[in-house]
Amino acid sequence: STVYLNGEFVPHERALISVEDRAFLFADGIYEVVRVYGGRPFDLEPHLARLSRSAGELRLPEPDGEHLAAVTRELIRRNGLDEGTVYFQITRGVHAPRAHAFPTGTAAPTVVVLTHPLSPEALAAGEQHRREGVAAITVPEQRWARCDIKSVSLLPNVLAKQQAVERGAYEALFVRDGFVIEGSSSNLFAVLDGEIVTYPACNYILNGIARQRVIRNARELGYTVREQGIPLGALDRCQELFLTSTTSEVMPIVAVDGKPVGSGAVGPVARALQAAYRDAVR
Ligand code: PDD
Repeated sequence: STVYLNGEFVPHERALISVEDRAFLFADGIYEVVRVYGGRPFDLEPHLARLSRSAGELRLPEPDGEHLAAVTRELIRRNGLDEGTVYFQITRGVHAPRAHAFPTGTAAPTVVVLTHPLSPEALAAGEQHRREGVAAITVPEQRWARCDIKSVSLLPNVLAKQQAVERGAYEALFVRDGFVIEGSSSNLFAVLDGEIVTYPACNYILNGIARQRVIRNARELGYTVREQGIPLGALDRCQELFLTSTTSEVMPIVAVDGKPVGSGAVGPVARALQAAYRDAVR
């Protein structure tokens, strides 16, 4: 496939990054993941706006959103992408010798955009997970206090997700100060006493683009949405639990730490929000 690297479209095998790149040495970079449905990027604008915000928080130069949108369309075309994802990464670029502080002078950021197709098998697995619901585990929060930045520094997320996989679960849910705040790569919602509850957008979570869309859809459907913490102790009395992300969409959780959530089956609120999400995709 074709990859966009620093202003050029190059074959995947020639899209090479220096060993002195600060993302390799320090995880000094940011990223975004956008879903492509039927050859069209979904919610590209808010994803690029968040990329711009992340860049600002790292004091990287502001990315050119219009240029990146054009690059996205061109990559989808060149790669014949129908169902899949677009991945964006911007790093502070190459600088030697290794030193923590920002390079002085004119070091240019590294900008990468690439596409990944979703195989029919992967798409079918996603559909089945959304239909039947998935299991989750809880893990202690071990990340930093700026989870609002979509940084490529993802080691705690990687370790948490691996724990989930090893325990046969789909996602690991981080617990901070007694509240279940979000997943290792997704946001978390609960239905508690008939109301939808999700952790407030703050420095402790990534304010998901899917999360924001689902909150809007829920309010349009007449649900009350409260942005507040879900206490760990409330998991055994919530009616429903689901997560959201660009790739998972609205994913029902039917068991946490081996215990059923609500009735143990996918609930009506998750079903309604899945349908609303899918309506927007079409
Ligand atoms: N993950 N929280 C975290 C920690 C995430 O990494 C993600 C996304 C989300 C959901 O954000 P959005 O709705 O914008 O996808 C929440 C992406 C998909 C990833 O790392 O692959």
